[in-house]
Amino acid sequence: MLGNLKPQPPDKILALGKLFREDPRTDKIDLGVGVYKNAEGLTPVMRAVKTAEKQLWELESTKSYVSLAGDPAFSDVMIDLVLSDAVDRSTVAAAATPGGTGACRQGFEFVKMANPGARVFVSNPTWPNHTSILNYLGIEHVPYRYFDPETRGVDFEGMLEDLKGLKAGDVVLLHGCCHNPTGANLNLSQWQLVVDVLNARGAIPMIDIAYQGFGDGLEEDAAAARLVAASVPECLIAASCSKNFGIYRERTGLLMAVSSEPSSRGLNQDTLAFLNRQNFSFPPDHGARLVTMVLQDPDLRADWASELEEVRLGMLGLREQLAGELQRLSGSDRYGFLAQHRGMFSRLGTPPDMVERLRVEHGIYMIGDSRMNIAGLNARSVQVLAKAIIDVGG
Ligand code: LMR
Repeated sequence: MLGNLKPQPPDKILALGKLFREDPRTDKIDLGVGVYKNAEGLTPVMRAVKTAEKQLWELESTKSYVSLAGDPAFSDVMIDLVLSDAVDRSTVAAAATPGGTGACRQGFEFVKMANPGARVFVSNPTWPNHTSILNYLGIEHVPYRYFDPETRGVDFEGMLEDLKGLKAGDVVLLHGCCHNPTGANLNLSQWQLVVDVLNARGAIPMIDIAYQGFGDGLEEDAAAARLVAASVPECLIAASCSKNFGIYRERTGLLMAVSSEPSSRGLNQDTLAFLNRQNFSFPPDHGARLVTMVLQDPDLRADWASELEEVRLGMLGLREQLAGELQRLSGSDRYGFLAQHRGMFSRLGTPPDMVERLRVEHGIYMIGDSRMNIAGLNARSVQVLAKAIIDVGG
């Protein structure tokens, strides 16, 4: 029976990481998987998280189960972080999940349970694991135009045009901020126009927010999710703590189901708990507990927010350096978009053969679609990358 298994297509982000690790060159540069790295190339445990961890070691007296939807205190702090007072708290059902990926997976299953015929519209491009999970679950997905290869910004007209194909009950997957893989984002007036289309068509938004605090700031990055949640009858939000709390391996995320119909909350909450029980039973607790402690303690929260802000400003600085260096070397402004993009990623827009040459000839690893992790750079490697891009004909 096991012999019937067929090989599955490798995840291109993780496959690139393997190639990088196997490359013996000592000056190689990893711009692949979305993990924050400081100027020394390290992914440190954030100060406030470390302090909370010490406190937890003293305080925690049991490792017994919590509840199927996780600790309600974790849901509360995360709902507050993402939605603030955009919606009435009594309209939000929520369940902790293993990371943001777990939240997406549970969200898609939730959609399938509620409306087996729903199609999920996804940006073209989107994070490859979105479509991989949708395929795995047998959920039809439909791409909508998003990235303009000419301007490297959002093809907003194309996007609106494609969203007009939505039918009532379809779901639209939207990146709350810091679009992965492109780095190109909608402004708030564009978000409002998207909301208008969704409401006109009776479609349901599902927002994946995995990089809150990495783009324009903690509040600014949540503005779109808040606008959407406040303006539609129902929405789903998949939030991740992996990046903004730096707790990748703790697998900490939250799926929220918001319904303006207060009587729906109970059924939504029960369904989220049921889905957790079917897939993994109780969600991981350690990371969720650390996040709760950090967000509940004013000093830890302030320290976390200021470290996150340092991380954000560091990435913005690298964007500006890279755009400036490319302007100097190319004598043109054609890479100016790098400073406009937000978050961890930018899609450079170079063709796959150039991406391959960057890897083979220069030891620079970015995803084949030319997505690069800005946080993989430092002041020195920015120069190396800029020269290499020009060298391969970019
Ligand atoms: C990424 O896009 O690189 C991250 O979200 C990490 C992952 O799991 O793919």
